[in-house]
Amino acid sequence: MNDLAGKHIVLGLSGGIACYKAAELCRAFIKAGATVQVVMTEAAEQFITAVTMQALSGRPVFTSQWDARTSAGVDNNMPHINLSREADAIVIAPASADFMAKLLHGRADDLLSLMCLARPLDAVPLILAPAMNREMWAHPATQRNVAQLRADGTTVLDVGAGDQACGETGDGRMLEADELLYDVARFFAPKHLAGQHVLVSAGPTFEAIDPVRGLTNLSSGKMGFAIARAAHEAGARVTLVAGPVGLSTPRGVERVNVRSALEMQRALLAACDQASVFVSAAAVADWRPAQVLDQKIKKDGSGEVPTLSFVENPDILAGIATSPRAQAGALYCVGFAAESHDLLAHAQAKRVRKGVPLLVGNIGPDTFGQDDNALLLVDGHGATELPRASKRELACQLVAEIARRLPAC
Ligand code: CTP
Repeated sequence: MNDLAGKHIVLGLSGGIACYKAAELCRAFIKAGATVQVVMTEAAEQFITAVTMQALSGRPVFTSQWDARTSAGVDNNMPHINLSREADAIVIAPASADFMAKLLHGRADDLLSLMCLARPLDAVPLILAPAMNREMWAHPATQRNVAQLRADGTTVLDVGAGDQACGETGDGRMLEADELLYDVARFFAPKHLAGQHVLVSAGPTFEAIDPVRGLTNLSSGKMGFAIARAAHEAGARVTLVAGPVGLSTPRGVERVNVRSALEMQRALLAACDQASVFVSAAAVADWRPAQVLDQKIKKDGSGEVPTLSFVENPDILAGIATSPRAQAGALYCVGFAAESHDLLAHAQAKRVRKGVPLLVGNIGPDTFGQDDNALLLVDGHGATELPRASKRELACQLVAEIARRLPAC
């Protein structure tokens, strides 16, 4: 999905070793569908050349307010005005401590700070990705500046923690390009779920037979993880209860790892009291072995095969959907149905059986492990198809559909 399709971003670089990450960020923005105009301070040019940034952005780089070249198609020798007028956002990465202090005071003695000051405040958001030594970041002056910049309407992103170029370790590193791309895409995403706390279950469960064997299913967790990401981008706080999958946690999402259906149930019950939406995307095992052996079952040479007997797992979704909070409308529950045939009929019946207002049907064998899917949304009014698309796109559409159905606060 082109998260930044149609966006024009002015990427500003102030001085700092993190300038090397701005090269990757520029590429990431372009890959995500944006056009990028780079503006650099003199200090930034000490760390990376304008030639590099021009090659990556495909546009001439601007570094001086006295640059008389045509900017943004206008020939008035005013790049500080022209460049920001066509921007959907100005992203300063890296934003040095000194540059933030300048912005705070409205100083404008170079093109980048001048352009930030001259931008139309309500039309061109300013997003800063700070980068500095840990002592500089922790200094009360910097923290005061960050707080005041935020109060003035600037979006100041978090910093990363870890090894720093100076050899010290701590907070102050600039976020990595993929993290910055995520944060900027999130900035633009419609905030359908602002103020909501969304609980998502995802992935398969694993039901142990003995210490080395177990039963599981082919769910990859990709749909549930995509929903968690989309809900976070839509402004929600998100808790993701994940069965055993190797997927990385979407940025900003709180993750609880579980293995069996019973563990999943415990984790979901512990979290659902704070949630306002529950999306049950996990492929929960219907049965588990009646006994879990604490030693590996060995072949005894007789050719006899072990017999397994099963007990039914609790229906987690049905239990939560019939809880007093869900019944009172304080927790909106969304179920999934993985079917192999007769999707509409099965999804409608399952919606009623589980007691959920919305059920999302899909054909299991067509989606398990894949990056795309097709969904059928069934609610009390009928059915809506979400045609085949990437799970990422479907998750964004589903989040918007859920938001539309939430009871007004
Ligand atoms: N689910 C659950 N607990 C279970 C089984 C399923 O919470 N023990 C949830 C799933 O997360 C999903 C929905 O119920 O949201 C439907 O799951 P699905 O596997 O499609 O249906 P089942 O209830 O297992 O019914 P069947 O296997 O007969 O289709």
